[in-house]
Amino acid sequence: MKKSLLQYLKLFLLLGLGRVTTMHVAKQDVPASLVTLPLDGHFSFHDLSTAARDFGNLSSSPPVAVLHPGSVADIAITVRHVFLMGHHSTLTVAARGHGHSLYGQSQAAGGIVIRMESLRSVRMQVHPGASPYVDASGGELWINVLDETLKYRLAPKSWTDYLHLTVGGTLSNAGVSGQTFRHGPQISNVNEMEIVTGRGDVVTCSPEQNSDLFHAALGGLGQFGIITRARIALEPAPQMVRWIRVLYLDFTSFTEDQEMLLSAEKTFDYIEGFVIINREGILNNWRSSFNPQDPVRASQFEPDEEVLFCLEMTKNFNPEEADTMEQEVNALLSQLRYTPPSLFHTDVTYMEFLDRVHYSEMKLRAKGMWEVPHPWLNLIIPRSTIHKFAREVFGKILKDNNNGPILLYPVSRSRWDNRTSVVIPDEEIFYLVGFLSSALGPQSVEHTLNLNMQIIEFSNKASIGVKQYLPNYTTEPEWKAHYGARWDTFQQRKTTYDPLAILAPGQRIFQKASASLPLSS
Ligand SMILES: Cc1cc2nc3c(=O)[nH]c(=O)nc-3n(C[C@H](O)[C@H](O)[C@H](O)COP(=O)(O)OP(=O)(O)OC[C@H]3O[C@@H](n4cnc5c(N)ncnc54)[C@H](O)[C@@H]3O)c2cc1C
Ligand SMILES: *[C@@H]1O[C@H](CO)[C@@H](O)[C@H](O)[C@H]1NC(C)=O
Ligand SMILES: *[C@@H]1O[C@H](CO)[C@@H](O)[C@H](O)[C@H]1NC(C)=O
Ligand SMILES: *[C@@H]1O[C@H](CO)[C@@H](O)[C@H](O)[C@H]1NC(C)=O
Repeated sequence: MKKSLLQYLKLFLLLGLGRVTTMHVAKQDVPASLVTLPLDGHFSFHDLSTAARDFGNLSSSPPVAVLHPGSVADIAITVRHVFLMGHHSTLTVAARGHGHSLYGQSQAAGGIVIRMESLRSVRMQVHPGASPYVDASGGELWINVLDETLKYRLAPKSWTDYLHLTVGGTLSNAGVSGQTFRHGPQISNVNEMEIVTGRGDVVTCSPEQNSDLFHAALGGLGQFGIITRARIALEPAPQMVRWIRVLYLDFTSFTEDQEMLLSAEKTFDYIEGFVIINREGILNNWRSSFNPQDPVRASQFEPDEEVLFCLEMTKNFNPEEADTMEQEVNALLSQLRYTPPSLFHTDVTYMEFLDRVHYSEMKLRAKGMWEVPHPWLNLIIPRSTIHKFAREVFGKILKDNNNGPILLYPVSRSRWDNRTSVVIPDEEIFYLVGFLSSALGPQSVEHTLNLNMQIIEFSNKASIGVKQYLPNYTTEPEWKAHYGARWDTFQQRKTTYDPLAILAPGQRIFQKASASLPLSS
């Protein structure tokens, strides 16, 4: 009580003086010092609960303030302000995209969260032409990017499975989906970015200009700057998609076919796959999409196997090319070794396909099953050890799907740029494996986290060579091991672009050092 009264008195005093010296600001003065910044948008010191939460629903740390930026300058002024406080302040800054992190990565305990979706001053602009692109705000949702570019019959080339994620959020990780084998991850399809560094500088960067910052920020987990604008490469958008699922009874033919398709002629436009363990569990599969698509039931196919593998692929087409599409699809399917009665396909619009997870989201929301804990585990596994991994994990460590899909599909290293910050194995082909569990009840959270731990422990012991995607580490040795030989570069880039470790503290890679705070008078 007493403290907050003091705080308000100070606030009035400071406002009266019109100017605040930024040095020696103690924690209690934070709101006061922020209120004096000349902004187009505003700070909010109440309603902090949203900024303290994320999709994972497993960690929650309230900030002291949320910035609703009205301009890029607002973001720069705020970060610069914190930077100039130097070691006298413990304040940190987290950009929050759509808050779809899993373990608090977009939160800033006791710091400032920047609500990137408020950044509307960066107008979306489509540039058609020979090499089309769109300029979009870092806080823009991918679904909005798709909506806008489709007006020009264009669309980004590389996607995530779910589009209610922000441009800056996925570019800070990688952005992977079934198109990654052809086009690389989303970070391979960016021509230029505008970034506010941890010093508060606004920098335009590209492979030609300030290229070190450009590459650092891609897959950089928000450590080097806040992406305020991205220039995203586009391609002509198809109108329709043939969407196909087939089932396999054994892992070897499943993965051999997946790998064959990566390099096949006139191959599919999208290739993913999932593992189905004890198929009763599939009824809860939120990703099984908007049609009655359960591949097992749709096919009236009742195998005895406990573990099944579903290959999912699509072919883009426009209605007038349906015959050609049909021929190409049949030629590809004839080379595959799936179990014939399991073939299932449907034709949908490009938008319906890309936004497929959102349909499942709406269904789950209606049942109160969306805003629940999500103890997800995402791994990147080299081709050379994927069989060893599968033998131990599918059916042994995991006895069922545990309330969520298990994704598994290969990609090619040649489509990834090794100058970016993202960590991938040293092999030409590696697998993306996602255990996407929803935990309904506290026991389920513990149970799933425990299974995740068993998977990680087995992988370490068996030298599988896994890397985590959307990594969740808490200690420096873990981060060092994650980055391996690239740790020095990562650290050096941090010193260059965010020397005080102000940005994205929720990743728990670097700790902001601070001198002991002077007591407020
Ligand atoms: C249902 C669902 C499906 C998903 N499917 C996929 C998938 O198919 N493929 C895939 O690759 N990922 C997928 N993801 C993961 C997704 O890429 C991450 O959650 C990512 O964090 C994007 O979410 P966001 O925009 O909400 O970012 P946030 O969670 O808000 O932020 C993520 C991190 O990036 C930082 N950050 C946010 N915005 C910026 C910015 N503008 N500049 C710099 N740093 C920033 C944050 O501080 C934080 O550290 C999925 C997530 C969900 C919930
Ligand atoms: C999880 O979600 C529930 C319901 O929305 C919420 O009350 C709770 O605070 C959340 N927990 C965390 C740790 O975010
Ligand atoms: C990236 O790959 C190229 C070509 O394979 C190689 O020459 C280079 O050393 C690699 N760079 C890093 C940083 O790994
Ligand atoms: C992720 O980190 C949290 C917090 O440290 C921890 O409780 C959880 O077990 C971790 N999950 C995994 C899968 O590593």
